[in-house]
Amino acid sequence: MRTALTELTGVRHPIVQTGMGWVAGPRLVSATANAGALGILASATMTVDELRAAVREVRSRTDRPFGVNLRADAGDARERVRIIVDEGVRVASFALAPSRDLIAELKDAGVVVIPSVGARRHAEKVAGWGADAVLVQGGEGGGHTGEVATSVLLPQVVDAVGIPVIAAGGFHDGRGLVAALAHGAAGIAMGTRFLLTSDSTVPDAVKARYLAATVKDVTVTTAVDGLPHRMLRTELVASLEDAGRVRALAQAVRRAAGFRRLSGLSWPAMVRDGLAMRHGKDLSWSQVLLAANTPMLLRASMVEGRTDLGVMAAGQVAGVIEDLPSCEELVGRIMAEAAQVLRTLPRPES
Ligand SMILES: Cc1cc2nc3c(=O)[nH]c(=O)nc-3n(C[C@H](O)[C@H](O)[C@H](O)COP(=O)(O)O)c2cc1C
Repeated sequence: MRTALTELTGVRHPIVQTGMGWVAGPRLVSATANAGALGILASATMTVDELRAAVREVRSRTDRPFGVNLRADAGDARERVRIIVDEGVRVASFALAPSRDLIAELKDAGVVVIPSVGARRHAEKVAGWGADAVLVQGGEGGGHTGEVATSVLLPQVVDAVGIPVIAAGGFHDGRGLVAALAHGAAGIAMGTRFLLTSDSTVPDAVKARYLAATVKDVTVTTAVDGLPHRMLRTELVASLEDAGRVRALAQAVRRAAGFRRLSGLSWPAMVRDGLAMRHGKDLSWSQVLLAANTPMLLRASMVEGRTDLGVMAAGQVAGVIEDLPSCEELVGRIMAEAAQVLRTLPRPES
């Protein structure tokens, strides 16, 4: 199926696997690429050297196009951009809006720039700065998320910008792909669905928690880091939500002490990181500590399999996903279903 997304990025199918921290590593990204979709490597949870090694590992596993996701506000964003350019990565995906200069630098080097946005005005801004496409995530989506549902936000963004729009938040099948195309999108991007594949390196115990979840087990909470964050409702989330300020601080300090050992961060560095993530919000001290630890909380589950200790970011679709196909099977299934739906849609009377 050819769309503006496949034309722009050189992939076969209009499907994107998003850059999920600790989840979207070389194995998942190369399996996605080999299945004919666009895999995006998550770099925010990697050091610069790890990113270079990961890009080379993807290269060694596939000759298809892929992307790298990075934080535009990272202190070393320029170094990461250099790697993308030097290693010939096809797509740069941004979690927060990149600056006009960064977009120009990447485009001059022939890299396709696709920022992620959660609101129409952000889409208009990055389109005005020269982004090649935008990925718009509705409130159903996993991880940090907004309030507006994909079915409302997507057509609003499509109407507002003249560049291709990729729809994210709540997609898992061929019907969803057709619905997104009907709204004017150039394709779909999925996080949770790709996390739940046999190619994803997430530990089996964690995948099992996702598969067992119903739609009601997926919640949005600000208790972890002060920002609306969609995840599985676990004992950790419940205890953070129930704790008063003093107990929450005591819990956060205890957890932070554990994560500090894992991350190697000093206490001042952790508080600095936490404060940087406040984004002007009024966070309690426990939230400041947890904000600094958010990547570590995600790592505890996604890498170490600690369902008791970790955050399990999840879209609402976790409640309807029940299997672990390979990326090849998943992409093939979605495209076959989309073709079938397109054939059987009612036609207007001629
Ligand atoms: C486990 C997990 C980790 C995520 N980590 C990131 C991240 O590091 N950066 C980012 O921009 N988005 C992150 N997201 C959001 C996804 O990239 C994507 O936008 C979202 O999952 C789309 O919604 P869906 O889950 O309904 O497909 C994450 C999502 C999940 C489920």
